[in-house]
Amino acid sequence: MKVYIASEKEIAKMAAQRYVQLINTKPNAIIGGATGSTPIPLYKELAKQCKAGNVSFKNVKSFNLDEYVGLDGTHNQSYRYFMNNQLFKHIDIDINNTFVPSGIDTKNPSKYDDMIKAAGGVDLQLLGIGVDGHIGFNEPGTKFDSLTHVVKLEQNTREVNSRFFKSIDEVPTHAVTMGIKTVMNARSIILIATGKSKAKIVKEFIEGPVTTKCPASILQLHPFVEIYLDEEAASLLKK
Ligand code: GLP
Repeated sequence: MKVYIASEKEIAKMAAQRYVQLINTKPNAIIGGATGSTPIPLYKELAKQCKAGNVSFKNVKSFNLDEYVGLDGTHNQSYRYFMNNQLFKHIDIDINNTFVPSGIDTKNPSKYDDMIKAAGGVDLQLLGIGVDGHIGFNEPGTKFDSLTHVVKLEQNTREVNSRFFKSIDEVPTHAVTMGIKTVMNARSIILIATGKSKAKIVKEFIEGPVTTKCPASILQLHPFVEIYLDEEAASLLKK
């Protein structure tokens, strides 16, 4: 696990360079997308790099981590809507090559893993982290061998995410998410964490034991993981 610490702006640029390098070497790369406020500076930087002609997403495929159950892609809090507006419409990706798990058809969620496999597997998976250590929507206690599945969201996660909704009652109670194994199947992974609220969990998942109590701790066992932190998120790390 490599850990990089810099300003929020700098880490967005550094992480964007990983995409530029990957896609320029492998124009039909498969990328894994994440939502939340953390990836927004990176997505802005990718749009900038694309507009400048430094990278083209024309042949890239994208598979997102998760979606709220019950929200269709037109709902302004759905993760499909988020991805369309924060990234896809600002780059030259073919929208038909972008995938987000369905929050409506949740009967056979692990077929998403089959789709990823059929596409060739994820080359670069992006992750944020929840304050309880969740990645995607894999809450504490999720089995490490899980594939894409439906989860009941922790009350705390709903509370934290309610800032995007009118009230907590509107926050869905369930989500569909890539499993931990789905995430670990990616050939390389970038996790970005910024801000003071993430400092405690950052310390825990990097320096603590590998345990299902902290889902992100599994990343210690992945051979190609880069962690990008700002000073605040890194402030409790030993070194
Ligand atoms: C949600 C998403 C996660 C994300 C997390 C943190 O729960 N499912 O993928 O990492 O929020 O979001 P933020 O980056 O806004 O702190």
